[in-house]
Amino acid sequence: MMITSAEFVTSAVRPAQFPPPDLPEFAFAGRSNVGKSSLINTLVSRRKLVQTSSTPGKTRLINFFRVNEALMFVDLPGYGYARVSEEERLRWRPMVEQYISGRENLKAVVVILDIRRTPNADDGQLLQWLEHRDVPCVLVVTKADKLSKTAQRKQLTLIADALEIDPGEIILFSAKSRLGRDALWKILADTALAPPEDERA
Ligand code: GTP
Ligand code: MG
Repeated sequence: MMITSAEFVTSAVRPAQFPPPDLPEFAFAGRSNVGKSSLINTLVSRRKLVQTSSTPGKTRLINFFRVNEALMFVDLPGYGYARVSEEERLRWRPMVEQYISGRENLKAVVVILDIRRTPNADDGQLLQWLEHRDVPCVLVVTKADKLSKTAQRKQLTLIADALEIDPGEIILFSAKSRLGRDALWKILADTALAPPEDERA
């Protein structure tokens, strides 16, 4: 995908602050520090569009980015980081759930997992919740560069087994080597262009 423009639009915590829902939108979700913001930077080929950090809990607001004047990317705050205050953790769920359930132009949620860890209860809850709400979901396993090819395959199988899906449904990604960037872009572009489900024959 050729990126002609990528710009920060706004940060929000509640619907009144969201930008108008006039572009196909993709949200990126996953545990704190899993690599959500880095993945967005890789997709848009900008090293610093989105702030990343080795300290978990960096992204605390819902951040909107306009890409190629055609799509909106939404960086969601991460979940499951214990050292973020309890108050903040309690804020996370309603904020993110309200965004996902009420956003009419949301095409899919990209759920990001770390290749070195099997999905935990928080990941499972998010996936179940998306399924229950009929929100399309794209599964990505990132930080692939941290493991050898053999270990990557082994972990991919473990993760797919834990989620009871086919490993072929998971995109292997690395913000470092850009592995999986083209594959993920293809899915996002196809999904953005697909007619809404209720308009299909
Ligand atoms: P929060 O906003 O805190 O929830 O984190 P995040 O999910 O946005 O993670 P972020 O992109 O900030 O990355 C967290 C750390 O992981 C940073 O130190 C990144 O450099 C590193 N990182 C992210 N993706 C990759 C990757 O594909 N490979 C490697 N080796 N490191 C990565
Ligand atoms: Mg982040």
